[in-house]
This record gives sequence, C-alpha cells and structure tokens, in this order.
Amino acid sequence: MSNANEKRQAGEAAIRYVEDGAIVGVGTGSTVAFFIEALADLKDRIQGAVSSSEQSTAQLKRLGIPVLDLNSAGPLTIYIDGADECDPHKRLIKGGGAALTREKIVAAASEKFVCIIDSSKLVKLLGTFPVPIEVIPMARSLIGREIVKRGGQPVWRDGVVTDNGNWIIDVHNWQITDPVALESELNQLPGIVTVGLFARRPADVVLVGDRVL
Ligand code: A5P
Repeated sequence: MSNANEKRQAGEAAIRYVEDGAIVGVGTGSTVAFFIEALADLKDRIQGAVSSSEQSTAQLKRLGIPVLDLNSAGPLTIYIDGADECDPHKRLIKGGGAALTREKIVAAASEKFVCIIDSSKLVKLLGTFPVPIEVIPMARSLIGREIVKRGGQPVWRDGVVTDNGNWIIDVHNWQITDPVALESELNQLPGIVTVGLFARRPADVVLVGDRVL
C-alpha cells in the first residue's frame, strides 16, 4: 500500500537537489505534488520549471512558479519525478498517471533524474504494476496484438486521452526479465509513442521517503 507520509518526505527531500538559478524539470503525480509545494518556497531562487503534464503545470502556476517551454529552456540540470515501480538498478515503470511521454522527454533532457517514491514502489523485478504504453489511437489493436505475441495482456485504459491526444494500453502479467531489451524492442513498433519502461535511462538517484537508495 502506498504511504502518503513517505511520499511527502521524498518530495521535500528532493529540494536539496535543486540549485540556485536552476530550471527544474518537474514530473507528475501525488509524490511530485509534495515536491512542487516545497519548491514554491524556493521560487525566488530558481528561474522556473519545465513541466511534464497539464496537471503539474496547473499546480506550478497556482503557486507562482514560472513554467518554461523546454525548447527555450535548453538542457536541464535536474529532473524530479515519481514512479510506479523501481527495481534495484533504479529502472522504473512510469505512466500510471498517463504522463509518460512528456516525462520521458523531460528526463532525457536532464543531466540528473531524481526519482521520489514511497517504499511500496520497490520491487525485485519490474512488471507487477501493469506497464503503460502510449499509442496513436489508430494503432491500438495492432499494438495489442504485438503485445500478446510477446506474452503480455493488453488492457485499453478506456476513456483516458493523454495530454498529447493519444491512448494508453496497460500491459498486465508481463514477466520482464530484461527491461532494457523490451523497451528497445517496443520502441521500434509503429504506433507506439512511448513505453512506460524507464530502463534504458534509469533514475540516477532514488529517494524512498527521505532515504537515498
Ligand atoms: C505519471 O504518469 C506517473 O509516471 C507517476 O510518476 C507515477 O504514477 C507516480 O505517481 P504517484 O506519485 O502519484 O504515486
């Protein structure tokens, strides 16, 4: 079961990775919401944030933190985001909140990825949490069949439209022995926008509550 106290602790502990003058990459989710609250206290010491979702953008703006466009912000020093699962190699499943594509983009644009989680997210092997995949709507059935061929059970997250206008398939019961290879293979399939495996670019630092992993 997820733990709100640990989420708050992790969100607040991540502040120590924010340097004066930084443009901060900001993820999405309930743990990140605690980070954004804490970031508001530092808003006069940073240039602003690049956001990974409409949800985080709304909270950042409400708290008076400038939201910048990634194209004009340039490379970022730091990205702070949550996760749905984290293995001992800091490889992640993300996308429970459907924001995986922009999250992967902002993570890729950042020098250091600090992942903030509660202890319920720690796993030995990824795959108990269904793997979210963002797909172009017309490719939903095609991708579903490709997933079945690879041993997963695709479930369409019916009714959910991503910030990019696409759909989400959640893949259940996947035995993920090699997440790097699976992520690379899925990235090749036409119709997949983003796979919610963050294995090729894992987190650099993981905070479980206020404990550094
Ligand atoms: C959003 O799409 C996800 O990647 C979130 O980072 C993930 O679902 C973690 O969310 P919580 O912090 O709400 O558990």
